[in-house]
Amino acid sequence: MDFNITLLPGDGIGPEVVSEAVRVLDVIASKFGHTFNFQERLMGGCSIDKYGQSITEETLADCKASDAVLLGAVGGPKWDDPNAKDRPERGLLALRKGLGVFANLRPVKVHPVLMDASPLKPEKLEGVDILVVRELTGGLYFGQPKLREMQNGKERAVDTLEYFDYEIKRVVELAFTLAKSRKKKVTSVDKANILESSRMWRQIATQIGTGNPDVELEHMLVDTASMRLITAPVSMDVVVTENMFGDILTDEASVLAGSMGMLPSASLGESGVGLYEPIHGSAPDIAGSGIANPIGTILSSALMLRHSLKLESEASAIEKAVHQTVTDGARTADIGGKLSTRQMTDEIIINL
Ligand code: IPM
Ligand code: MG
Repeated sequence: MDFNITLLPGDGIGPEVVSEAVRVLDVIASKFGHTFNFQERLMGGCSIDKYGQSITEETLADCKASDAVLLGAVGGPKWDDPNAKDRPERGLLALRKGLGVFANLRPVKVHPVLMDASPLKPEKLEGVDILVVRELTGGLYFGQPKLREMQNGKERAVDTLEYFDYEIKRVVELAFTLAKSRKKKVTSVDKANILESSRMWRQIATQIGTGNPDVELEHMLVDTASMRLITAPVSMDVVVTENMFGDILTDEASVLAGSMGMLPSASLGESGVGLYEPIHGSAPDIAGSGIANPIGTILSSALMLRHSLKLESEASAIEKAVHQTVTDGARTADIGGKLSTRQMTDEIIINL
């Protein structure tokens, strides 16, 4: 089959890891008889440098017109001026909003042989298999007003935490659907003791829970959840939460897997164009040195094959190859080894 994939390598280590995922996808294409047509576009700091804006209308339109989008990472110190008119991250938010990808799936699995790479005790990590479903197009990231102004001689900054009922409903429903093919447990994370939006979140989650009696629903305050994630991660299955809480909790959860470099994500919505990206950032400190771990992006490309292109066998072929490669002892620097980005991918391709 024929597919059109937009690549947004972005900034920092983004281009290094995306090109490795493309090598893996090329192998999949020839093995399984598909054609992947890749078109590469700029988004993030690189787009600011070239076009003066973090994402252009044309780039967004090209993404919308493709079957799926594979992204590296955006941002870096070069574009961090607090007074800058545009920022790399704004492009990413415009892309998420533009594609309508309201649910960000972040699976966190602990590979048995990588337990040493995590600061947690192995007995805490045994059997950890969590799927965080992060709401991605609402909450503090997008709420209006969002501003900075002078008021009576004092400077004031405002961000708005806003949710509509339908935004909560669709993402929590998806979490329940996903839980059904897993351990049938949903942990809904909120701050209902303080936030009005969380009280509505909890109410809607409860209603959806009542309609899905085969799935166990547990509500948890975000502060408790941040603790439970490291004291009892094995007790969690699907975790569903609002945008900002999900951002913070998934960085924390990545510690379980030994390195952020290992973790993929899939962002899905109603439009049908999925966005796939590793959860790590642009890592400017190691950019250009060819030592970044490509696994997060390679596994993101597997999620792309599964969710957007409906190529299940191809997706699991990549996942199996990654698993085997790590089991065999291949390691980039972040997980305690010496392999370069390219060498790690070479090992994965051998196992394909
Ligand atoms: C993530 C990142 C982004 C976010 C940044 C780069 C805007 O931290 O995908 O988790 O906050 O969503
Ligand atoms: Mg983040």
